[in-house]
Amino acid sequence: MTERTLVLIKPDGVARALVGDILARIERKGLALVALELKTVDDELARRHYAEHEGKPFFPALLEFITSAPLVAAVVEGPRAVAAWRQIAGGTDPVEKAVPGTIRGDFALSTQNNLVHGSDSPDSAEREIAIWFPDLDS
Ligand code: TYD
Ligand code: MG
Repeated sequence: MTERTLVLIKPDGVARALVGDILARIERKGLALVALELKTVDDELARRHYAEHEGKPFFPALLEFITSAPLVAAVVEGPRAVAAWRQIAGGTDPVEKAVPGTIRGDFALSTQNNLVHGSDSPDSAEREIAIWFPDLDS
């Protein structure tokens, strides 16, 4: 059973020139790119994407960060793609949770500036892909 997930390389990943390294890790894992775009997002899209976090203390700073500069959005596909991409990305807190060998474990220090996003379930992936790539299957 193949599955799709949403990948974001957040503005810190683009600014630090880690796009090539991160995409290489995705490709080496065996996941296939099915969509890929560099874009700067507005507040409205950011709010829809992170709707589950509305009202949390870190929400305003998260919106500010994600809209601050260009990011890379992608859709990748493969068996258990959702879990596979979360595994490569590492835990949300790049020091306490992400282990060495993961993207966050290797390259990040800050929970806010943790380089990448991955959908947390197949349902979330479907919702997020529709937000970022509404024309993907049309
Ligand atoms: P979350 O969905 O919990 O993490 P993940 O990206 O691993 O799915 O949170 C979304 C983003 O919000 C997270 O990547 C970074 C930011 N964030 C903070 O800035 N502070 C926090 O305490 C948490 C939990 C998240
Ligand atoms: Mg999340």
